[in-house]
Amino acid sequence: METRRPNDEQSALWNGPSGRAWVETQALIDRMFEPLERLLVEAVATSSARSVLDVGCGTGAVTVAIARRLGAHAQCTGIDISARMIDAAQARAERSGVHARFVRADVQTHAFEPASVDLIVSRLGVMFFNDPVRAFANLRHAARPDARMRFVAWRSAADNPFMTIAERAAAPLLPNLPARRPGAPGQFGFGDRQRIASVLADSGWADVAIEPVELACALPATALDDYITRLGPVGLALLEVDDATRRRVVDTMRAAFEPYVDGADVRFDAACWLVTARAPSA
Ligand SMILES: C[S@@+](CC[C@H](N)C(=O)[O-])C[C@H]1O[C@@H](n2cnc3c(N)ncnc32)[C@H](O)[C@@H]1O
Repeated sequence: METRRPNDEQSALWNGPSGRAWVETQALIDRMFEPLERLLVEAVATSSARSVLDVGCGTGAVTVAIARRLGAHAQCTGIDISARMIDAAQARAERSGVHARFVRADVQTHAFEPASVDLIVSRLGVMFFNDPVRAFANLRHAARPDARMRFVAWRSAADNPFMTIAERAAAPLLPNLPARRPGAPGQFGFGDRQRIASVLADSGWADVAIEPVELACALPATALDDYITRLGPVGLALLEVDDATRRRVVDTMRAAFEPYVDGADVRFDAACWLVTARAPSA
């Protein structure tokens, strides 16, 4: 059942250890997920959008790339529940010399200016709401009539074995590793296509298309230790263990990732949904 509570659990994670890990590994994450960024930025270039909202913008890679592509006449805004991520996004925009605005708020409850946005995008930032219908209804309220939405979300854990190797390998050594809860807010919260379709229908979006995409991603092999020890459920669990356990877990995980190492790179396919929708005409 959906609840009306604010995103307490997700807010604590993204303002706490998960947010810290994403900020500290942002160069690695941006490189790894650059093909997903491209999928959003290239579509923006062919649209007439002048007011763009990046949902769950994190450290702002996509917001800044879109702002750069659209130029000074566009208004690009990133919104995120994490103060740490928003600070990093702001710093990125300043470093890049592009004009972009960042708001720290919960998308489910934020008082957006009605009918103010003509394109909503997100790279992996919309699967964490505990009331997704409320969040997407709020976004529709922010959207102008006929505004477009385009986001990328993970397909299921089963479709993304690379994303769960670390926890599968480490589970015998980390008995308290939390199990994934299907459909719960989190990385695979939108794994089920039917769920996305019903959330978007119930929140009033039209012309919904949900297309499976496979995106070839890579990270430098030298960054693998950072990836496996900082991110995801294992990264969180490793914050709590002693040095000896940590060493055993890291050795076990390195061996498990071996099949994905290709020379100087680690390569994997990201199995995602590319979702597009339109806000109803006035
Ligand atoms: C997986 S990260 C993706 C970040 C960014 N889009 C990227 O690709 O680098 C998910 C982001 O969603 C944000 N988030 C989670 N729940 C949110 C909510 N209710 N409102 C706004 N942002 C939220 C998190 O703080 C986090 O930055």
